[in-house]
Amino acid sequence: MTSQIIPVDPFDFVVFGGTGDLSERKLLPALYQRQKAGQFCEPTRIIGASRSKMSDKQFREFASKAIADHVSAKDVDEKELEKFLKRLSYVPVDAMSGDGFDKLKAQIGDSKAARVFYLAVAPALFDDIATNLDKHGLVTSDARIVVEKPIGRSLASAQELNDAIGKVFDEHQIFRIDHYLGKETVQNLMALRFGNAMFEPLWNSAHVDHVQITVAETVGLEDRVSYYDKAGALRDMVQNHILQLLCLVAMEPPASLDADAVRDEKLKVLRALKRVNGTEAPKTTVRGQYKAGASSGGAVKGYAEELGAATDTETFVAIKAEVATWRWAGVPFYLRTGKRLAERVSEIVIEFKPVPLSIFGDHAGPVSANQLVIRLQPNEGVKLFVMIKDPGPGGMRLRQVSLDMTFAEAFSVRNPDAYERLIMDVVRGNQTLFMRRDEVEAAWRWIDPILASWEENRQAAQGYTAGTWGPSAAIALIERDGRTWHESN
Ligand code: BG6
Repeated sequence: MTSQIIPVDPFDFVVFGGTGDLSERKLLPALYQRQKAGQFCEPTRIIGASRSKMSDKQFREFASKAIADHVSAKDVDEKELEKFLKRLSYVPVDAMSGDGFDKLKAQIGDSKAARVFYLAVAPALFDDIATNLDKHGLVTSDARIVVEKPIGRSLASAQELNDAIGKVFDEHQIFRIDHYLGKETVQNLMALRFGNAMFEPLWNSAHVDHVQITVAETVGLEDRVSYYDKAGALRDMVQNHILQLLCLVAMEPPASLDADAVRDEKLKVLRALKRVNGTEAPKTTVRGQYKAGASSGGAVKGYAEELGAATDTETFVAIKAEVATWRWAGVPFYLRTGKRLAERVSEIVIEFKPVPLSIFGDHAGPVSANQLVIRLQPNEGVKLFVMIKDPGPGGMRLRQVSLDMTFAEAFSVRNPDAYERLIMDVVRGNQTLFMRRDEVEAAWRWIDPILASWEENRQAAQGYTAGTWGPSAAIALIERDGRTWHESN
């Protein structure tokens, strides 16, 4: 089975922070993959822009190394790589002083092609870059700007950033990336929900017992010292990725896949999230921080040791959330995410209510509730756990099995990185998988009170050993309700 590649009209793609980490690990490799897939038409150009003094040749060398390091060797085709590198050029710019923007303007010339300004830089530079683009007449009606999270660290700071970009670009030109929305299985969640008749009638509080969303990582602080310690897991993962996943699970069917139709429905979910107030936070939220332990087969340091300072920043968070709508009233959404956990696994579990009564008798064993497990990574796929009769003679004994749709087995196609899909959506001007301003701000409206009550209650981060599933309080959070976290397998 092959998917059809639709070439896009030529475009100019400017990466601010072109020599940075995101550009190296994600953007250049993703652009190369789209070149190789045959999606670019002439004269598509990619321009690196950042403070480093560099020639075109040096930037091409940087890109070539990025592709060697971050694209699997079997996908590197020398001819395509050469074609790709020819598209690249470099302009040194200083966002604060504005130096170099005139050169950028000259480089783009009077091209009428769509132009993308990708801000792979710290949010503190968003305002200056947008202002300078405007001042130098670079913002045409076919220009788009792409910004990465974190969009603020609170509602107020998110509003400031949105205002700064909004002064120069219209909302339809602003693409706020949440790379989780570009993941194949996340989009599959929509296909599953709205492309099948069998789930929707059960997708509500009458039939769903609860929902779990887990985004577990085995990595630690990595080299993100200055960012992560000021953010913590709630801002870094829950405000964006996890809430976006929750929206896709909980939203009403949109009228179409049109960007605003989908985003209107997600917004309603965010607005319906029950506020976690000061007295509830200690009961419905858990903060954790990893201590020394073992991860991926080796000993690892604790977070504070890695950081080199005492800190209360959370590297783990678990929350029992509720969507206060008719569809979901009373259905808990258990959310958890953390660094240095036992396994790298991201999944959404919909656990249905058990059958009202077992007719099979004690010898048949328990009749477990059905579960739909949507696995984002690794081994992307969907499993539906159902009960069957244990095969063979010897009476009726029940056993749980999974109807398994692991994508790697079902489809022999390369699973594209989320950035490949998202970058091409930017070029095409399709905003369905990007966060609208009101969504980002609604998410902060739910997060801010949690942060405030953590502070008021002095709710400290509880230690957990690296390589485990987080603090014991996170297990208690769900077990108190007579439920357990799904064990991935
Ligand atoms: C980023 C977070 O947005 O997502 C990181 O800032 C996190 O802390 C990363 O590691 C996880 O992304 P993925 O695609 O590896 O699950």
